[in-house]
Amino acid sequence: MISVLDNVFRLQTTDTEYIFRKTKHGYLEHVYYGARLASPDIEALAPKRTAQAGSTVAYDRGDPLYCLDTMCLEWSGIGKGDYRYSPAEIKMPDGNFVADFVYESHSVEQGVIPPDTLPAARPSANEDCSSLLIELRDTACNVRLTLVYTVYETANVISRRAVIENRAASHLVIRRLLSMSIDMPNTGYNLVTFDGDWAREAHRHDRPLQYGVFVNESRTGASGNKHNPGFLLCENGCGESHGRAYGFNLVYSGNHLGFVELSSHDLVRVGLGISPHCFEWTLNSGERFETPEAVMTFSDAGLNGLSRNFHNFVNNNIIPEAWRGRDRPVLYNSWEPCFFKFTQGRLLRLAGLAKKLGMELFVLDDGWFEGRDSDRAGLGDYTPNRRKFRRGIGQFARKIRSKGLEFGIWFEPEMVNEASNLYRSHPEWAVSGQDGREPTLGRNQLVLDLCNPAVRDYIVEQVSGVIDETRATYVKWDMNRHISEFHSSHIRGQGEFFHRYILGLYDVLRRIFGPRPQVLLESCSSGGNRFDLGMLCFSPQVWTSDNTDPVERLRIQGGLSYLYPQSTMGAHVSDAPHQQTLRDTPLSTRYNVACFGCLGYEMDLRFLSPVEKREVREQIAFYKTHRKIFQYGSFERLSYHKANKVIWLCRGEGATVVGFFQTLADVGEGPDTLRVPGLESDRLYRVGTRAQRLYIKRFGGLVKHILPVTLNPDGFILRMANRLHALIDCVETYECRGSTLTAGVLLNSQFMGSHYNDRTRLLGDYGSNLYTVWLKIS
Ligand code: GLA
Repeated sequence: MISVLDNVFRLQTTDTEYIFRKTKHGYLEHVYYGARLASPDIEALAPKRTAQAGSTVAYDRGDPLYCLDTMCLEWSGIGKGDYRYSPAEIKMPDGNFVADFVYESHSVEQGVIPPDTLPAARPSANEDCSSLLIELRDTACNVRLTLVYTVYETANVISRRAVIENRAASHLVIRRLLSMSIDMPNTGYNLVTFDGDWAREAHRHDRPLQYGVFVNESRTGASGNKHNPGFLLCENGCGESHGRAYGFNLVYSGNHLGFVELSSHDLVRVGLGISPHCFEWTLNSGERFETPEAVMTFSDAGLNGLSRNFHNFVNNNIIPEAWRGRDRPVLYNSWEPCFFKFTQGRLLRLAGLAKKLGMELFVLDDGWFEGRDSDRAGLGDYTPNRRKFRRGIGQFARKIRSKGLEFGIWFEPEMVNEASNLYRSHPEWAVSGQDGREPTLGRNQLVLDLCNPAVRDYIVEQVSGVIDETRATYVKWDMNRHISEFHSSHIRGQGEFFHRYILGLYDVLRRIFGPRPQVLLESCSSGGNRFDLGMLCFSPQVWTSDNTDPVERLRIQGGLSYLYPQSTMGAHVSDAPHQQTLRDTPLSTRYNVACFGCLGYEMDLRFLSPVEKREVREQIAFYKTHRKIFQYGSFERLSYHKANKVIWLCRGEGATVVGFFQTLADVGEGPDTLRVPGLESDRLYRVGTRAQRLYIKRFGGLVKHILPVTLNPDGFILRMANRLHALIDCVETYECRGSTLTAGVLLNSQFMGSHYNDRTRLLGDYGSNLYTVWLKIS
C-alpha cells in the first residue's frame, strides 16, 4: 500500500514499511525503513537538523542547516554540497556535471509499471501491488528524473528504478545512472556479499561496515561469478534466525555496481544499478534512458527471514508465470558422463537406464552439432552432427520420448568458434575490437555481437528451429566466457556496448521463449556466472555451478540460498572422486545436498553397481515424494555450534526435511543435536532418518573386525560383495512434541573406531543424513 499525506510518502508491505518526505527545498528525505509501525511519528523518526557541521556547504543561503551532505536522501546529484558517492554522474545539457534534482510532482498507480526494454518483476496472483512515481527536475536544465517505486506487498519487497528524460534542446551524457540510492543512519552494520569465480560461486563473505565506499561490481559483461549483484546489510548481532537485516538485488544480467558508503557524518548510503565501467550514454533531446529494477527487502527475523522474503519474491514475482509453483523434472544430463564423445547408441542406453531409475527428462548437452567434437570448433552452427545422429536430431528426440522421458537440449547461442561455418561466412558478427587488435579467446571462442540485429535474428531462427524440430521441453542456455575487446559497429558509441548487449540478449530470449512457454529454460554460464534476477525472469532455474562436489556445494548453494530459492538451483549428483576436487564423497551425501534444489544426475549410469542403482532409485523416489518441499518449501540455514556441521531445513505443508551435513569428522567430539524450530509446541511429531546405504568399501581394512576370516579389502570377494550388498546406515526414529524437537534431540553417537553396531551413526568425513519430520495424526 502506498499513502501520501502532508508531503510524507509511506510505502507498506505486509511486514515492512518505507517512509520518506519532501523537504522544503524539494529534496526527498529518507525517514525510515524497517518493520511495520503502528502509527509512525514522522518527526520523532526523522533525522534532526539542529546544527551545521564545519566546512559543510549549505544548500540554501537563507537556511544554513539544510546541508545535503548531512541529510538522509532518497536521491542526490553532484555539485550542491553532497560529497558522498552519487547515484548519478551526468554531463548535463549545459556542459556541467552539476545536477540538482528537486521534487516536481508525483502520482500513485495501481499495479506495476513495467520498464519498456528491461525485464522486471510482476505481481503474483492476488497480490496488491502499487507504484509511486516521483518526478524530479533539475533546477538549471530541462531534464527530468523519475523515481519509480513499486510495492510487492506479500513478498515484502519494495523495488526502485530511475528513468531520465532529456527535455533540453541539447544532448546530455550519462556516465553513471544507478537504479536507486538510499541513506540511513548508521546503527552498526556488517556487509555480506557473495563472491567467487568459476566452480566456486557465491561464497559468503562478511566484513564490518567501515568508513569509505565498498563496491560490489562486475565488469565482465555478465552479472558474473566474481560478485553476485545481491548483497546484504546486517545490523551487528544479526544471525540466521534473529536480528535486523536489509537485502538488495538487481533485475539485471550485465555489469552491475552495488556500493555501500559509510560517510564522514556516520550515514550509510546504499546504491545499486548498472556499472559505470566503460559506460557512456548520450541522450539526445527528447530521449529517455531507463535503469533496471533494484529490489530491497527487510526482515527483523534474521537472515532466514530475509531469505524467505527473497525466495517468495523470486518464486512468485520473478520467474515466468507458466513455471510458478510448477514441479521441475528430475533430469539426466549427458555432459559429465560423455563430454563430446558419444554415439546415439550410448546416449540411448544411458537414457534407458535413467528412465529405469526414475528420471524424467533427458538432456543432450554439448557435442551434438556439426564440428563439435571438442571445444575448439562448431559453436555457431546448430546443424546436427550427421555422424552422431544419422537420421537427424528430431528422430533422436522421438526415441528419447518413446522411452518415456522428456527431451531437453543444450545451446551456447551467444558464442562462435573461429572454426565454424558461421564465422567463416560472417567474421564481422563476432565481437573482436577495432581493426588492428587481435581478439582474445576464452575457451577457444568469441562472443557474438548481440547489438547487431542480424545476429539476433540468426540466433532466434536457429534455436527456435531446433526446439520445434525436437519438441524439446527443456533448453540449457550456456555462455562460457567473459567479454573482451567490446566493440560493435551497430551502436552509437562504444560506451553503450555492455548495456546494448544485454538488451540484445533479452530481446532474443523474449522472442524464442515468449511463444514457447512450455519450455523450461535453464540458464548457465560455466555454471553460475550469470545467476541473477534478470535471467530468472526468463529461466526458472540456473545451472548453479560446474562444481558438483557436495562439500563445495554446501558453500555454493548455501551462499546463493540467501538470495534465491531452491527452485532456481540446478543441483546434480555426479561421480566420485569428483572431477574438480578429487574428493571421494558418499553417494548419499551427493544426493542429500543436491536434493535441496532441482535434482539431476550427471554421471555414467552404466558404471553404477546394482546396489548403487537401487540407492539412486530410492533417492529419486524420496525426492518425488517430497519434491514440493525441496523445490518450493520454506528453506532455513540453522546455526550450529560446531564449524564442521552444516544444517539445512526445508519446511513444506505435510512435512519438514532437515539435512545434517558433516564436513570433516572430529573424533569423539560429543553428541550431535537435531533441532527443529518452528513446530507447534504441543503437537506430536515423528522424526526419522531417511534410510541410506553404507558401502562396504568405505571401511577398507576395518572389515576384518566383523569377518571371521581376513580378506584382502581390495580383493575380488569384497569387491563383489560391495557391488551387490550395502549396509543400511543407522536409522533413528523419535516421537515427541514440537517443543522437544525445538529444544533438540540428541542423536546417536558417531562411529569412532572402537565400536560398531547398527545404532552407530557412520558419518566420517563428508557424511550426512536427512531427517523427515511430520505431524503424527492421533
Ligand atoms: C559449460 C557448462 C557445463 C557444460 C559445458 C558444455 O561448462 O557449465 O555444464 O554444459 O559447458 O560444454
